[in-house]
Amino acid sequence: MSRVLATTPALGRTPLPTGLDPARLPRHVAVIMDGNGRWASRRNLPRVMGHREGVEALKRTLRLCSDWGIGSLTAYAFSTENWNRPGEEVSFLMTLFERVLARELQALEQEQVRIRFLGDLSPLPNGLQQLIADATARTAANTGIHFNVCTNYGSRAELVLAAQRLAERAAAGQLAPAEITEELFAAELHTAGEPDPDLLIRTSGERRISNFLLWQLAYAELHITDVLWPDFDEQAMLTALLDYQRRERRFGGVDPLA
Ligand code: IPE
Ligand code: IPE
Ligand code: MG
Repeated sequence: MSRVLATTPALGRTPLPTGLDPARLPRHVAVIMDGNGRWASRRNLPRVMGHREGVEALKRTLRLCSDWGIGSLTAYAFSTENWNRPGEEVSFLMTLFERVLARELQALEQEQVRIRFLGDLSPLPNGLQQLIADATARTAANTGIHFNVCTNYGSRAELVLAAQRLAERAAAGQLAPAEITEELFAAELHTAGEPDPDLLIRTSGERRISNFLLWQLAYAELHITDVLWPDFDEQAMLTALLDYQRRERRFGGVDPLA
């Protein structure tokens, strides 16, 4: 029995590619998963087939990040602006999120993934909200990778909410405005407790942030690839990480060797 398990490919870990320096991996990778619609259009398929395939790319990416020792993966699944899409596409996405979460929860639990959903979850369908609450609770104590799925997420809305919460505390006399620090502000964001992303990957060649993690990305390295999200694979992830490891992060300082 154990022999069978040990040789089951699905349970095998992908070793860290030799070209990567394990000591200089990003602690936190954020990804704008873009290009699902174009992936499908190029195959004369309905756009939603691209979303379905995009789920496979996300599972691959999560597994690679986990196998390679990256502490957190934050993926942009649905923005506050994505409600502007045709109704059928939005409903397909909501149903897809529900189905995938129900189907994958056991594996996430077993693989020690701690999953959270970041964003305003209240407008999501009730069934999805319940699944999210269940998945969050059931994986909360897991010790593996932090997997954050940004769902009905908008960075400006997140910043306004943080400002409101701090203002309420100030109005209640619990906090003086001058006591508000960057740390206190960050603690009110959906990402509270996570280190800021070191690397942002955006697929499909678009060179914009699209209201994603505006505060948290202050010093992230940006990797933009023409690869469409459903095609994002181990090679594409390796390319992104090699690109990241070639960067010299200065944080406003100077290059010590220059
Ligand atoms: C990203 O792919 C997925 C979501 C925003 C949900 P798109 O659906 O934006 O694909 P393109 O940009 O139209 O190709
Ligand atoms: C960003 O992609 C949002 C997600 C990936 C969920 P979009 O396709 O919605 O972004 P824009 O509209 O091209 O900026
Ligand atoms: Mg897009």
